[in-house]
Amino acid sequence: MSSFYMPVRVFEEKDAVAHHAKDIKALGNKALLVTGRHSAKSCGAYDDVVEALTGEGMRYALFDEIEENPSTETIMKARDLGVAEQVDVVIGIGGGSPMDAAKAIALMIYHKEADISYLYQADADSHALPIVAIPTTCGTGSEVTAVSVLTDHSKGVKKSIPHKIFADLALLDGTYVGRAPKQVIANTAIDAYAHLCESYLNTKASAYSKMCVDAGLRTWAKSKDILEGKREAKEADYNNMLRASMFAGMAIAHTATSLPHGFSYTLTYELGMPHGVAVGFFLGGYLAHADAEDRAYLLETAGFSDVEDYRRLYQAICRPGEVAEELLERALGSILENPAKRGAVPYACNEEDLRDMTYDLINHMV
Ligand SMILES: [Fe+2]
Repeated sequence: MSSFYMPVRVFEEKDAVAHHAKDIKALGNKALLVTGRHSAKSCGAYDDVVEALTGEGMRYALFDEIEENPSTETIMKARDLGVAEQVDVVIGIGGGSPMDAAKAIALMIYHKEADISYLYQADADSHALPIVAIPTTCGTGSEVTAVSVLTDHSKGVKKSIPHKIFADLALLDGTYVGRAPKQVIANTAIDAYAHLCESYLNTKASAYSKMCVDAGLRTWAKSKDILEGKREAKEADYNNMLRASMFAGMAIAHTATSLPHGFSYTLTYELGMPHGVAVGFFLGGYLAHADAEDRAYLLETAGFSDVEDYRRLYQAICRPGEVAEELLERALGSILENPAKRGAVPYACNEEDLRDMTYDLINHMV
């Protein structure tokens, strides 16, 4: 069975926020702006949103305390602000963390009597306030997925909440990506590439999700030489990076991710390793074990000659550094105990294969 469901209205253009102020206004009267500490402001998106809201006569409150890998406690703190301010729409501005947080905050404001356990309560009502997503990096695709990944310190884990929550409106403007630090662009571009590969190499993949992967790979390839440092980026490159990330988001919205994401959470939780760096660490191994035809398609369409070529670029731009064997064993253990993630792998994959994937980068350091 194949199906396709993507309920987010996506607009991609220069000055998208200004041009779609009325579309934001159509969702509510008072907004909670959800951002991290700095990047939404430094890239100009925050000012654009405030100007758009003000121009439409909308009021707003700001919650700018979203950390990388947002915690459930932070979500509840933002929920309390949103309830006190009586907001009726939530606007997430930033990378995956603020956009994922915006979904969870919109859920918890809607269910304002619920306690923190509601976030991970399966089969609970997932209605939420309307959400606007404004991505400022080029990896997460959260603007078009229903996923919200949070960190639950009480259990010491980072994982998706069971609620599936789409934004209502996504406003894409590559200008913001162009103002992001180069390292953030590199890390998030690797995350987007991983989304494309993990969606394609997935038991839930369909002709429709593969359509998104194909568009994403071809778009991603156009700016690969920027990552390699072979030329300076132009405006169109940042739009391509953002669009590739969005296509990748559409792909994983239909399939979810697979093993590299599953492995990655241990490194991010224990080392604070950025998400894209942690995911990319295991991607070479996942590709190396795939069927030859699939592997060639995923690598060559993105502009890589082989897995070694991917590993080389990844190490050069993401610089993962040392990872202790004990942590890799824990990452491996987390997958061995996770039948859902293992079930997403479309090829034969025994414990020895999983061990190979875990140590793939260590065994192929350049
Ligand atoms: Fe990711």
